Amino acid sequence: MQLKKYLYSFIYDNTETELSKLESKYIFNAEDKNKLLFSDIKIAPSSSAFIKNRLELISFSEDYPTLIENIKKENITIEGFKVEYLVIEGDTLEYKKRLGKLKDIGYSIEGIPDYYNPTVTYALCLFEGIWCFGILTKNKYAWQKHNKKPCSYSNSIGINIAKALVNIAATGKNENDLLDACCGVGTIMLEACFAGYNIEGCDINWKVCRDARENLAHFNYTANVYRSDIKDISKKYDAAIIDLPYDLFSKASDQDFLHIIASTSKITDRLVIVSISDISKLIHDTGLKISDSCSVSKPGKTNFSRKIWVCEKIE
Ligand SMILES: C[S@@+](CC[C@H](N)C(=O)[O-])C[C@H]1O[C@@H](n2cnc3c(N)ncnc32)[C@H](O)[C@@H]1O
Repeated sequence: MQLKKYLYSFIYDNTETELSKLESKYIFNAEDKNKLLFSDIKIAPSSSAFIKNRLELISFSEDYPTLIENIKKENITIEGFKVEYLVIEGDTLEYKKRLGKLKDIGYSIEGIPDYYNPTVTYALCLFEGIWCFGILTKNKYAWQKHNKKPCSYSNSIGINIAKALVNIAATGKNENDLLDACCGVGTIMLEACFAGYNIEGCDINWKVCRDARENLAHFNYTANVYRSDIKDISKKYDAAIIDLPYDLFSKASDQDFLHIIASTSKITDRLVIVSISDISKLIHDTGLKISDSCSVSKPGKTNFSRKIWVCEKIE
């Protein structure tokens, strides 16, 4: 049996299921099953809000003693290592037995372990009857520091959604040039910068542009923010994200949406649009094709959901 190089585990709640699956589709070209996904594609867990861990496989076997033999054959010599047991769906092995297995692995590696400050963390798990051993990389959630950005905005998008939008727009490829066409205070830009994407922002409102720049500088990110109506941007991008303006009291009009979407489609072939209502007809009217869409609601707030539209230009 041949497994892929990486086993990813996911964490998301009911309100985020559709969004997480959409993100996986664009990063991995596959969906998780029971919050697990094998892939040959390498991505840093911290670049997604929904990836919990990545296990880079070193060895696997259906037979546990064979796995231990294989690990020994790897001749791993390292100081300060740690081994963890990943409990995944369907694994009913009791705690004491798990600890025993961790010991077996510890004895198969040359070096003194360090449980508190490990140089590298290995992990063992049982996936559908196959013992898997590899290097574990965790999502350390350092990006959540962005929740404490100096300038916020009542219309700012949630940080988990922001990360997913970036991954969907860039299809996980760091070399792609992205535009946040209505960047507000830069919530999406912060996530793109954290994950190492090239992004620029644009907003018609000078105040939020100033705030976006301050937020970016606060975290030492470098990215251009243009104070401009999107119609006046002529530079071309691989993809653009549009978090359409909305205000619960004075709603932006369909004309405004048409203007923003049509202007953005002149400078990119790929758009990921966020709205709070069904704008599918309007998107079609601008000559774009909707390749995917999903909804994401706030936990406990079923009457408010955001719609995400992945759009492409019709050839
Ligand atoms: C929903 S807010 C974006 C919020 C942003 N994602 C954030 O988290 O801070 C929409 C933004 O679109 C901007 N906007 C409206 N019309 C625009 C236009 N024609 N060109 C560029 N930006 C525009 C507004 O100033 C507003 O900041």
